[in-house]
Amino acid sequence: MQVAVNKAAQLKAKPDEKKLGFGTIFTDHMFNMDYSIEKGWHDPRIEPYTALVLAPSTMVLHYGQGVFEGLKAYRNQQGGVQMFRPRENFKRLNASSRKLCIPEVDEAFALDALKQLLTVEEAWVPSEPGTSLYIRPTIIATDPYLGVRASFTYRFFIILCPVGAYYAEGFNPVKIMVTKEHVRAVRGGVGDTKTPGNYAASLLAGDKAHKAGYTQVLWLDGVEQKYVEEVGAMNIFFVIGDELITPSLSGSILPGITRDSVLDLAKTWGMTVSERKISIDEVMDAHAAGHLKEIFGSGTAAVISPVGALKYEERVITVGDGRVGPLAHRFFQAIQDIQYGITQGPRSWVELV
Ligand code: PLP
Ligand code: COI
Repeated sequence: MQVAVNKAAQLKAKPDEKKLGFGTIFTDHMFNMDYSIEKGWHDPRIEPYTALVLAPSTMVLHYGQGVFEGLKAYRNQQGGVQMFRPRENFKRLNASSRKLCIPEVDEAFALDALKQLLTVEEAWVPSEPGTSLYIRPTIIATDPYLGVRASFTYRFFIILCPVGAYYAEGFNPVKIMVTKEHVRAVRGGVGDTKTPGNYAASLLAGDKAHKAGYTQVLWLDGVEQKYVEEVGAMNIFFVIGDELITPSLSGSILPGITRDSVLDLAKTWGMTVSERKISIDEVMDAHAAGHLKEIFGSGTAAVISPVGALKYEERVITVGDGRVGPLAHRFFQAIQDIQYGITQGPRSWVELV
C-alpha cells in the first residue's frame, strides 16, 4: 500500500525547545488509515493535523473500544532522527488490539508509514538535551452505533508532539503512595493493554494521592491487594540487597519496553535480576532491615523515575537517602545514551529514520 501525502498549506511556528512540557503541542501533520470489513485497512495517508469529525454515537466514545501506544523519536549525535525499539510498540499495539477485538495492523507497514510521517515532520524533532518527539499511534472504533459489540469500522491515526520532561520534578525522586482502596487492573482483564479505560480508572486514586501530597499511586494486585504491580503509569523496580526485582508479568501489568530494556541491561551488567512476585510487606520489611536500597519506575515518557518516599498505611519510609540512587541513575544514563545515539545498545534497539 502506498501512503498518500497531502501537505499542510501553512506550517505552525515551532515552540521554544527550552520550554517544552509534555503532550500539549502537536506537529503539522498526522497519519490516518481506515478499516472496514470489506476493504480491511485502507486509504493510508499523511495529511494536515486536524480535528476528527465523529458522530456523537461513535462507539469508542461510549464503550472505550480503543488502543494506543507511546514511543519517541530522538535527534541523534549525527543530527539524524532515530527511534527506540519501535517494532516492540507495534507488536504491543497488536497485542492490545487482540484483547479489544480490534483488527490488527501490519506491523512492518505501520512502522514504514511512521517513518514516512517522521520524514515529513523531521524539523519538529527537537535537539535540546532531554527533549524528543513523542509518538502516539491510536486506534479507535468508529461505528455510529450504541449496541454493545465490536465495531465494524476503525480509524488508525498517529500524532506527534515535541516533549521535554514528563514530570515537573524532572529526574528527581517522587513520593508515592500505596492505595488499598482502588485497584488498577485484575488478572484476566485489560491491565496488560494500552487501552483508554485503564487510564480513566486510575484517575481517582491518582487524584487522592495528589491531594495527600504524593506524585503517584503504587498499585497492588487486584486479587489479594498484597503484591506490587505498577507505579502510576510505569513499571516498577526495587533494589533489595544486591537483587534487582520487578514484578513478573502476571497478566495485569503492562509489559513495558523500558522495563524490558532495564532487565536486559542489568543482565549484561552481570546483576542479579528477578522477575517475581514482590509483596508490599517484603518491601516494608526490607526497609526495616536496612536492605531496601532503591525504588524506581520505568516508562517511555520519563525513562526512569526514582522514588524517594513511600507511604503504606500509616508508615512513610524514605527510600535510600531520599535522593536519586546509583542504579536509577545508571539505567537512566545508559538508556538515554542509547536513545540519543551516544552509545550503541546491546541489541538492535535503534531504528534510524
Ligand atoms: N505501565 C503503564 C500502565 C504504561 O502506560 C506504560 C507506558 O507506556 C508503562 C507501564 C511503561 O511502558 P513502556 O516502557 O513501554 O513505555
Ligand atoms: C509512559 O510512557 O511511561 C507512559 O505511561 C505514558 C503516559 C503518557 C500514558
